[in-house]
Amino acid sequence: MAFRIPIPRRGIRSALVLLFLLLSPYLLFKHLSILNGNTVEEDGLPKTNKDLLKNKVENRRDELVIGKPPNSHDQIQLPFGISDRIDDEYIELEDDQDQMLKQKYRNKSKSKFRHGSISDKIEKEEEEGQNNQQDDNNNNNDLDLGADNRNIKRAEHKFLKNGYLVPNPKAPHPIYKLISHSKQLWNKKLNKQSKTLKQAVDEYRRRYERNPPKGFERWWAYAEKNNVQLKDEYDQIYHDLEPFHALPPKKIQSLLKESSELSGMYTISCPGISVTASSGSTKCIYKIVEKGLNEEGRRVAKERAKEQLGLLKDIENLLEPIKIVMYSHDVPWQFVGHEYKGALEDAASVREFFNPDEHEIDTAHLGWASACAPHKPLRHDYDPDVLPNLEGLWTGDKSFVWDHKATMDPCIHPTLTHLVGFLSGHGKGPGPSKELYPVLAMCKTTLHADVLGVSMEAWTEDVGDDPIWDDKKDDRMLWRGKNTGIYFKDGVPWNISQRINLVSKTSQTLGDIPVFKVPSAADNQLEPVGKPNNIPLNNLNDHLMDVAFVDQAIQCDSNVCKQVEQDYKFGSRKDWSQGNQYKYLLDIDGNGWSARFKRLMTTNSVVLKSTIFPEWYTDRIQPWVHYIPIKADLTDLYDVLSFFRGGHDDLAKEIAIQGTKWSKSFWRKEDMVAYQFRLFLEYSRLLANDREEASFHLTGEELKKRSDEDIIITEETVSQDVNDIVQTNGTQFQ
Ligand SMILES: *[C@@H]1O[C@H](CO)[C@@H](O)[C@H](O)[C@H]1NC(C)=O
Ligand SMILES: *[C@@H]1O[C@H](CO)[C@@H](O)[C@H](O)[C@H]1NC(C)=O
Ligand SMILES: *[C@@H]1O[C@H](CO)[C@@H](O)[C@H](O)[C@H]1NC(C)=O
Repeated sequence: MAFRIPIPRRGIRSALVLLFLLLSPYLLFKHLSILNGNTVEEDGLPKTNKDLLKNKVENRRDELVIGKPPNSHDQIQLPFGISDRIDDEYIELEDDQDQMLKQKYRNKSKSKFRHGSISDKIEKEEEEGQNNQQDDNNNNNDLDLGADNRNIKRAEHKFLKNGYLVPNPKAPHPIYKLISHSKQLWNKKLNKQSKTLKQAVDEYRRRYERNPPKGFERWWAYAEKNNVQLKDEYDQIYHDLEPFHALPPKKIQSLLKESSELSGMYTISCPGISVTASSGSTKCIYKIVEKGLNEEGRRVAKERAKEQLGLLKDIENLLEPIKIVMYSHDVPWQFVGHEYKGALEDAASVREFFNPDEHEIDTAHLGWASACAPHKPLRHDYDPDVLPNLEGLWTGDKSFVWDHKATMDPCIHPTLTHLVGFLSGHGKGPGPSKELYPVLAMCKTTLHADVLGVSMEAWTEDVGDDPIWDDKKDDRMLWRGKNTGIYFKDGVPWNISQRINLVSKTSQTLGDIPVFKVPSAADNQLEPVGKPNNIPLNNLNDHLMDVAFVDQAIQCDSNVCKQVEQDYKFGSRKDWSQGNQYKYLLDIDGNGWSARFKRLMTTNSVVLKSTIFPEWYTDRIQPWVHYIPIKADLTDLYDVLSFFRGGHDDLAKEIAIQGTKWSKSFWRKEDMVAYQFRLFLEYSRLLANDREEASFHLTGEELKKRSDEDIIITEETVSQDVNDIVQTNGTQFQ
């Protein structure tokens, strides 16, 4: 392939250094603010030593991120509906650039690839999208059902590409459809998975138009042996790493070196030390950059690095040589502009290197919007200085989450930048960086450019005493936690941040809220849902909610602390076992992603989750089958609880049971290892001087033969496999 390798010239190098110097105050500021002591949250749990130990996971979670205060938030209220518009625009809307790119893909894949390809997939999805749209159009002629009586169909809800379902009043309660539709999606996903190495390689080539990385057969064997499910569903890795394919190996190696020396980073090297040179057995090692970290920061970094080594223990002999840099703090680190990332992705899609001489890297400070394509709502028509009208959202048009990941994207859901403290705490948002570093982070939003790794923070198998569903004593939804999410001070929109929104609404005694009528068991469940009715909040909160902050206000200037403690409900802590008495458990983001999810999912209760952080398992879980997705503004919460509490206990129980099963079969240690293993193989290839050589080339009969044999991993077979692969020419994909 004709790769042009641009050699960074001295001028560019010094520009990079300069840029880095310019950026470092921001980065440093982030580090300092995160590590400044007393910010760890204790999340509503008792303070005995045992419990503290048990809960250290969650305690560590909510480390503080202090953002720059927003510039000047005039309190101008938007009429409802302008911000997160629920309209059809985003079903069809396409970037011109996207179109170009797909055209390029098509041209390229016609000549190069025999198998199906990404473009096929895109086309297929487009078709499906169109069909949906078509159905919607047919079915939404509310006034007109009789007009075309050749083709009367049942009224349907709208599934929008932005992840929301918009209810049609003529259709039955939308949650029936959300559940049945999600079951279908999940079964479809389960059924189409590869069953042999050959199928997996074909599927990889089909999806990503590229050979898998070298060592893929070892990954497959590990996954087979350990019963890892949904072996094709690792698109997150592809999306995170694709831009790096446009950077030449030398460039990536130098970025890696540069980042490995920054404060708060640690590097894992495999092989680190050779244990027995003759057997080729190796171990991974880690090295932390301690400068700039305080004692707590060093402790946490060390613990995280050790946990990563623990995770790699079973597979360290199966990896390709690797040096990988990880960010030790539990927040995302990288923010680059859409133009740069898009240009990298474009170049990668046509298998070329990005040429910095041909592109100006745009670093205009548009805040969070910098990460969005120009036509996306956050960038196109959202005013970061105007706060959304939260009350308007609560009483406005209804929608529910069907595609959870899509609803996490602030580019198409701009109010997230105000309603989620992690984003609004940074004011308008950071300025984009000029470089994209190949660094792993423990979490990211869709705006961030970090490579998502598996973090051990959430891992637990212990959940405390946990009655079966029918023995649970409390039918309400429980949430306890601290007032994290944002630093609470004047001039910052903390009073619309997610946890405040939750506690304030669920303790409100005055006023009404619109809620859909729920058909009882005796009713005809196919009865149209109609328009929502106003129900007194007092009533709803009494029956549905047990929600409160615990202890006293934290992360706040003292005047604001007082205000928070006065105006919002604080309640008693609940330990795990007490929590497990509740049928409904809410998981909502604090300062970053939530590490409670694994534990909550393992309980016999049903989990409701509201988040903007996609995680390593997100491609392999199904909302409405394993848990209940809740919008970030929480405006679907009362409808969801009313539905399940109003005669659908059996449906909630079913999700609770499926959720527990999921936790025990899709989120085991082995599943975390499988993700990291696959990610590391990809990453090794990116670093390799010759990426072709570092790819998996087996094709045709040989691959089939290989699949048919039961691959047993021993160190011998590993090295043999590697030799086999090197000796194969695999011309088909060269
Ligand atoms: C793809 O090929 C068509 C003709 O086959 C050509 O008109 C078009 O410009 C090509 N597009 C790109 C992006 O290369
Ligand atoms: C938040 O505070 C601002 C000003 O302090 C006030 O105008 C606004 O109504 C508050 N919003 C909510 C939801 O409490
Ligand atoms: C490799 O290439 C050689 C010469 O081009 C050819 O004879 C041989 O059959 C190829 N092997 C495979 C496995 O494709």
